[in-house]
Amino acid sequence: MNLRILVSASIALILAISSLPLLDPKYFISWKPSLSSPVADLILRNGLIYTSDDSLLFADSMAVGDGRVLRVGNYSFVQELADYRTEELDLGGKVVVPGFIDSHVHFISGGLQMMQVELRGVDKKEDFVGRIKDAVKSTKEGSWILGGGWNNDLWGGDLPAASWIDDITPKNPVWISRMDGHMGLANSVALKLAGITNLSEDPRGGTIMRTASGEPTGLLIDSAMKLVVSQIPEGSVDDRREAMLRASSLALARGVTTVVDLGRYFPGLSADISWEDFSDVYQWADSFSKMKVRVCLFFPMETWSRLADLTKKTGYALSQWIYFGGVKAFADGSLGSNSALFYEPYVDEPHNYGLQVTEPEVLLNMTLESDLSGLQVAIHAIGDRANDLILDLYNLVASTNGMRDRRFRIEHAQHLASGTPDRFGKEGVVASVQPDHLLDDANSAGRKLGKDRAEKESYLFQSLLNGNALVAFGSDWPVADINPLSGIKTAMRRRPPTWEKAWIPSECVSLDDAVKAYTISAARACFLEKHVGSISPGKFADFVILSAKSWEQFAEEASADIEATYVSGVQAYP
Ligand SMILES: *[C@@H]1O[C@H](CO)[C@@H](O)[C@H](O)[C@H]1NC(C)=O
Ligand SMILES: *[C@@H]1O[C@H](CO)[C@@H](O)[C@H](O)[C@H]1NC(C)=O
Ligand SMILES: *[C@@H]1O[C@H](CO)[C@@H](O)[C@H](O)[C@H]1NC(C)=O
Repeated sequence: MNLRILVSASIALILAISSLPLLDPKYFISWKPSLSSPVADLILRNGLIYTSDDSLLFADSMAVGDGRVLRVGNYSFVQELADYRTEELDLGGKVVVPGFIDSHVHFISGGLQMMQVELRGVDKKEDFVGRIKDAVKSTKEGSWILGGGWNNDLWGGDLPAASWIDDITPKNPVWISRMDGHMGLANSVALKLAGITNLSEDPRGGTIMRTASGEPTGLLIDSAMKLVVSQIPEGSVDDRREAMLRASSLALARGVTTVVDLGRYFPGLSADISWEDFSDVYQWADSFSKMKVRVCLFFPMETWSRLADLTKKTGYALSQWIYFGGVKAFADGSLGSNSALFYEPYVDEPHNYGLQVTEPEVLLNMTLESDLSGLQVAIHAIGDRANDLILDLYNLVASTNGMRDRRFRIEHAQHLASGTPDRFGKEGVVASVQPDHLLDDANSAGRKLGKDRAEKESYLFQSLLNGNALVAFGSDWPVADINPLSGIKTAMRRRPPTWEKAWIPSECVSLDDAVKAYTISAARACFLEKHVGSISPGKFADFVILSAKSWEQFAEEASADIEATYVSGVQAYP
């Protein structure tokens, strides 16, 4: 090597190093104990900051540095952390809240659905057919056309049939699911691939809808859906990655900065898919710095030992973006498919009490083992009986395995018998609930349970709060839209479209409680309260600027627009 170059390079290096403390004030400051406070990158002032932190619930200013909240308070207090590089944002009196945490999503399923035919909101048969027709144009011959979100109630109730779309889809199998996910329409090409004919028998727990003459119409209900769904190729790795990125952009546009992903698991679907999503999608995105939303992952409970082994090696935070939540199982089915488990039978099916979908001994064994290995457990329970069974199970597991901070979760906790709401608070069980589901269920619950029973026990958010339960809000996206501001409004107003009055007015909650359920309580519900959930010094600077000009206005209108979403102190939307 040329000696002269080496010498001059060394001199340049020495000069560069020795000039650092003089040129970089941050470096310089670190040597001065009196100036040891970090410098703010960003100061927000003149706002109405709702922190979700009871030690200082409202403030007008905050300072952000290195992706974290540094200070919250009045302007002169946070301004102490400014220097010449600090940016300042005048909020003009607007409301700021912590980034929302959606406590229950199926993130990659939702993203995949965004890439498919969107039938949500379609209110005419012609539009339904039109959207499929458009999809045919952009789909290769022989490839599946997939989609969902249709609701026949919007066009008067007629159920769709394969005959609506067979003419326009002679070369493509089609599968489009109803908004609630318990019914779907296949065209004749798809029926043929699935081997469904005049002679097929209904599988257990499902129905193949037929015409009066016995011919399948194309509609499949509950477990019969699997006949077609099992024929659909699993999305490619690229599709699943794209799905996650699209889902993240949508979440940010709605003010969501953290999601709890319950995976793509539903009873009968392979548990491996959640693990493949973890490695192919989330770990891939993290290693290429493509994560935009923090995710807390739950895995199918039958794979508890795999998660237990992994967390022993890695801990619960893989990075600032990916956290391990715990494991999930199912106690019962759903109200829409008459499979949620109740003490009394369904009014429209007098012999049906619903289903216990996981063998009780198996569920107990898995819960004991998961809990013993330190994992958090979340179990889906919708009917009143299912909720009591799981509370009993949790009690038994807690007394067997001994005291610890375990925060058992019940997902949905939708219908609760008298006395049950208080048990959540007393027994320290998290109620992970989805306000927007009540918009669809208010009508059907009356029909399926009877009006009185439905009003006594459905979506008892205020009763849960009165009993000191930790209540976490979520959407169940893509079953309902990912939209915390909508969920907050629904929890406050409980007014389904076309309803004049609230459904069960005594269960309406305050704006403060609704925002907390989407922020700090949601963070506690998945053990992330040290990192997120409130605008508190030391936590990630994840927050949302709303259009509302005062807390009173926000409370009165129960709505606002998302103006900007920040993650780690950086604007991520728009
Ligand atoms: C601003 O906040 C600081 C710290 O909380 C406090 O000491 C000070 O009195 C406040 N100033 C005003 C004008 O309220
Ligand atoms: C199924 O039934 C329909 C109506 O009875 C009939 O027109 C059709 O030919 C039958 N298809 C087969 C494959 O048997
Ligand atoms: C769960 O079942 C397995 C296999 O039958 C058994 O070895 C284990 O001891 C059971 N665990 C508990 C906690 O009952």
